[in-house]
Amino acid sequence: MEKELLLEAIDIKKSFQITKLNRLEVLKGIFLKIYKGEIVAIVGKSGAGKSTLLHILGTLDRPDSGKIVFENTEILNHSDKQIAKFRNEEIGFIFQFHHLLPEFTSFENVLIASMISGEDKKEKVNELLKEVSIEDRANHKPSEISGGEAQRVAVARALINSPKLILADEPTGNLDSENEEVIIELIFHLRNKFNHTFVIVTHNEEFAKRCDRIIKIHDGVIVDGKE
Ligand SMILES: Nc1ncnc2c1ncn2[C@@H]1O[C@H](COP(=O)(O)OP(=O)(O)OP(=O)(O)O)[C@@H](O)[C@H]1O
Ligand SMILES: [Mg+2]
Repeated sequence: MEKELLLEAIDIKKSFQITKLNRLEVLKGIFLKIYKGEIVAIVGKSGAGKSTLLHILGTLDRPDSGKIVFENTEILNHSDKQIAKFRNEEIGFIFQFHHLLPEFTSFENVLIASMISGEDKKEKVNELLKEVSIEDRANHKPSEISGGEAQRVAVARALINSPKLILADEPTGNLDSENEEVIIELIFHLRNKFNHTFVIVTHNEEFAKRCDRIIKIHDGVIVDGKE
């Protein structure tokens, strides 16, 4: 089957002003393509710029230069408001820490994320909580569930608006190996069932190898697995 292009990053550059005289060039010209239904791992040493790149792909941060083309649309040309709308509708995020709202239950945490769309998604929240095997914890708050369970709720939250692209920054980085395996299996299960597209930053070599493709960042550029 022909691979369908979802996102293309073209010559992304990003630097940070560290001191008055010192600028740190983190991304020096990143070119990459992400195809629909893929699970792509992003790897590289600590400080290589993996999180920086993921934030730029997800429009949480702007590059100094370069283009992000999402389904044939160059998104960085749009206004901040339009970009925020795009992000809410098309991108799901999973981070190392679950960042669930402590005052709300699992069900509510996922539901709140859905409210931005203006639709009543209660039914879908329940379906997703079932999908991540957390339905019996739906009415518990984050402090009443384990770290692994909370991360499964965070996965459900990332999926609630049916984003075309899910970006995950070390989604298993805070979990023991058993829970790590549960999350990895869950990601493959969701891709196989719904054909979601995932870009995942990971330090876990075994996990990276199981992904469809590995993109390695070194010295500000991709040194491996460009296509
Ligand atoms: N807002 C910022 N201001 C200044 N420097 C930054 C900023 N964000 C990131 N950096 C620097 O840019 C470099 C890349 O950071 P980034 O977080 O992308 O690395 P990473 O590959 O995700 O590392 P890790 O594996 O440790 O998470 C680091 O040297 C970091 O200190
Ligand atoms: Mg990082």
